[in-house]
Amino acid sequence: MAIKWSPITEVPLDRGSLSLSNKMIRLNANESPYPPPEIVLQAISASMHEINRYPDPSGQELKNRLATKYHVDPAQIVLGSGSGDLIEHIIRGLFHPGREVIIPHPSFPLYQAIAQSISFTIVKTPLHSNGTVNLNSIADNLSEQTALIIICNPNNPTGGYLPLSDIDAFLSRVPEDVAVLLDEAYWELTDAYDDPDQDSIHLLKKYPNLMISRTFSKFYALAGIRLGYVLTPDASVSHAISQRLSRVMPNRLALAAGVAALSEEAESVYKIYRSMIQRERTRILARLTQQGLDVFPSQTNFVTFQWEDSEKILPLNNIAIRPGLGMGLAGYTRMTIGQPDDNERVLNLIEESLNPPSTIKHS
Ligand SMILES: Cc1ncc(COP(=O)(O)O)c(C=O)c1O
Repeated sequence: MAIKWSPITEVPLDRGSLSLSNKMIRLNANESPYPPPEIVLQAISASMHEINRYPDPSGQELKNRLATKYHVDPAQIVLGSGSGDLIEHIIRGLFHPGREVIIPHPSFPLYQAIAQSISFTIVKTPLHSNGTVNLNSIADNLSEQTALIIICNPNNPTGGYLPLSDIDAFLSRVPEDVAVLLDEAYWELTDAYDDPDQDSIHLLKKYPNLMISRTFSKFYALAGIRLGYVLTPDASVSHAISQRLSRVMPNRLALAAGVAALSEEAESVYKIYRSMIQRERTRILARLTQQGLDVFPSQTNFVTFQWEDSEKILPLNNIAIRPGLGMGLAGYTRMTIGQPDDNERVLNLIEESLNPPSTIKHS
């Protein structure tokens, strides 16, 4: 007789977009188009020689580096194999039958997929028309049943960013027994990142119910290594999250990469990548707007705009992009900002599809 597994609840996520061949121009998963700086690659190779050894289960060196960068206690940091994984454990950890999670919509599909898989009651709140999270609408939906609020800032898939003052004002209205998870996967790509006073980390001192998730996948160009972290108000919250994670993670290569990525040498390379992405962002937004398309202002490494033909045109040209349909934005397309030549190819294809050459009639 076949062995019998207990039933699982399906988490319906579109992971197909991640399994594409590298021969495609990948503008579908908000990855960095640039490789990590040399110093990071060297740290990864050096740690390969010690791959027979388990990693430090506490990831202390990386926590110390992050703590120095953000002026927090290392005990306020929880490391994980990607921020998505940490977000999943936080949602699961805060589930109680009969309680609710409030999420923006459309937003990062993982929130809804995980919440649904555990029958967490979901309250969806619509975005502002400029693609930012509508905090008033979240506040209006707060109830005795609310256990968790998730804010994606900047929001994926629209790219809209809310300043720190808005988040602060909102948090002051949330009761302390309601947890708030601020997902900041794209924080380092916002213009506000240049001003340390705008960093939401300051709010951790004021709000004991706040958690902030960040990742090495986007700005740090390390999506393949799977490394993310959550910043918490104190060690007790960190402990509650850590207890729910697998016992030894992240892996040795990821920890080494993270430490090297935070070095001064690496940060100076990342700053150059960032300014190239920001320059391209401005250029792409302007070109799409010129075409009369409805375009969301973006503070991220992607741009989302109203264009229905992406699936018809781009795969034929070896370009992978994300249609809005699966993300709650039917009729829209999300394009990750790639290297300038690739962006130019996409822009040309969009312009050609919108302005087809008029058919020449022969008499
Ligand atoms: C808003 C948001 N949060 C979290 C993640 C998860 O990133 P990772 O698990 O690679 O850290 C993503 C990835 O695209 C994202 O867009």
